[in-house]
Amino acid sequence: MRAQRRPGPTASPRTRRELVLILDFGSQYTQLIARRVRELGVYSEVVRGDTPLAEIAAKKPSALILSGSPASGYRAEAPMPDAGIYALGKPLLGICYGFQATMQLQGGRLAKAPRAEYGTATFVLDGRSPLFAGVPKRFRAWMSHGDEVQGLGPGWIKVAHTSNCAFAAARHETLPFHLIQFHPEVVHSLYGKQVLRNFLFRVARLEGGWSVKSFLRQAVADIRAEVGDGHILCGLSGGVDSTVAATLCHRAVGDRLVCVLVDHGLLRMGEAEEVARELGARRGLNLRVVDARERFLTKLANVTDPEAKRKIIGAEFIAVFEEEARRLGPIEFLAQGTLYPDVIESASAGWGSQVIKTHHNVGGLPERMHLKLVEPLRRLFKDEVRELGRALGLPAHLVERHPFPGPGLAVRTLGAVNASDLETLRQADAIFIEELRRAKWYDRTWQAFAVLLPVATVGVKGDERSYEKVIALRAVNSADGMTADWTRLPASLLGRVASRIANEVRGVNRVVYDCTSKPPATIEWE
Ligand code: XMP
Repeated sequence: MRAQRRPGPTASPRTRRELVLILDFGSQYTQLIARRVRELGVYSEVVRGDTPLAEIAAKKPSALILSGSPASGYRAEAPMPDAGIYALGKPLLGICYGFQATMQLQGGRLAKAPRAEYGTATFVLDGRSPLFAGVPKRFRAWMSHGDEVQGLGPGWIKVAHTSNCAFAAARHETLPFHLIQFHPEVVHSLYGKQVLRNFLFRVARLEGGWSVKSFLRQAVADIRAEVGDGHILCGLSGGVDSTVAATLCHRAVGDRLVCVLVDHGLLRMGEAEEVARELGARRGLNLRVVDARERFLTKLANVTDPEAKRKIIGAEFIAVFEEEARRLGPIEFLAQGTLYPDVIESASAGWGSQVIKTHHNVGGLPERMHLKLVEPLRRLFKDEVRELGRALGLPAHLVERHPFPGPGLAVRTLGAVNASDLETLRQADAIFIEELRRAKWYDRTWQAFAVLLPVATVGVKGDERSYEKVIALRAVNSADGMTADWTRLPASLLGRVASRIANEVRGVNRVVYDCTSKPPATIEWE
């Protein structure tokens, strides 16, 4: 018998490998479930909802969570879990559609709800359940469903209702199976975290203790095992993901990691130097900075179409990178900072509504050069990568950096790209970022930058009429870049930035602020 202890995530030195497997049926909140479970100290992974039983069993999950879905469980085309998962007897939590699909398979009754519920609803508990320990008898929770369970299957007991929904939560009589109609993973569900905590530590009786630090130890061991005495090549962009991936690989294989930073002349002010200083000089990474500025500018001359710019930059990047890789060989592995959301997106493609973003990677290179991919961050979310960066001792200003597009400043000097405009933009951008940091707004925005517009406007400097370019400032709040809202920066801050740019940056006499959301605009101007 295990000693009695207070349920909750503790950092147990005994790291029995615990895995909560989340079956994804296409809900926009699935990744949020995975993140909440990890925040509570248990490692979680997302797989397609219809993954066959044998594959699920092979992963040896400690517990299962069934996600929500935009689908209707009573339609023939609805995605369904393998009916055999219930026979595994593993602790199981069905959320929203996960509840409905379970009832569909377990002899319950499912139909279109007479009144759909979107937004918060008041839950009233009818019975006792370990899932609701520490939760008041009535509580507000987030609902989003047009179908409802109208009758439970044999062996299931009703646990809660709302004014619109007779069966809002249920549990199995004898097995550790729990079903809820609300979404505990969203912040609007007041006791959502408590319910998830109860599921993990009271129902499933997990140990917890997973953290990014424990991940770090495991990741280093995994890279060593994978690479053996081979060599890794890593492309550095200055972005958070590649910086953390390179630092992690360096910890694992030391000098057998070679990093290449292609300076295409489209980076922000001081960016190449900063990465070289931090990773090369300070941490001793084997880093090669390639000055390819001329090469890129020549290829980009007179190109105005944004997509054409992207294609040229992508192709040229691969060409430079490949030349360097051949020079630096022999190399067997290529490290990439692929993140978990990209892995999930491609795994469940067609189910969710998410669009795969354009990524600036070294497409085609692994096959041509017979390189094997090392993707040490492929199980992490962005904020976990930042935490890992901190655990690796990287400075905050590198780890907290705003996202930066692969084509860089080329898509922020609108129209044709030239060296002098790039310099103007770099200076304006540096002033904007400096003032944002000074006003403590940098960390409160998801992404902020300057854009150089290809128009001249009239101004007056001293007593002279000027006819110079316009800088647009863009700052947005977003969770993932898919949608975004413009940041309500204080007028005083905007005034200071505008005044400094118009006074200090030659060739600019006017500054405007972009207050458009995405959609209908995009974050970048090109
Ligand atoms: P948009 O402009 O599409 O940007 O609203 C969404 C996010 O993606 C970044 N972005 C890119 N990243 N290559 C990249 O690696 C690109 O071509 C590219 N275009 C946009 C953008 O900075 C924002 O974070």
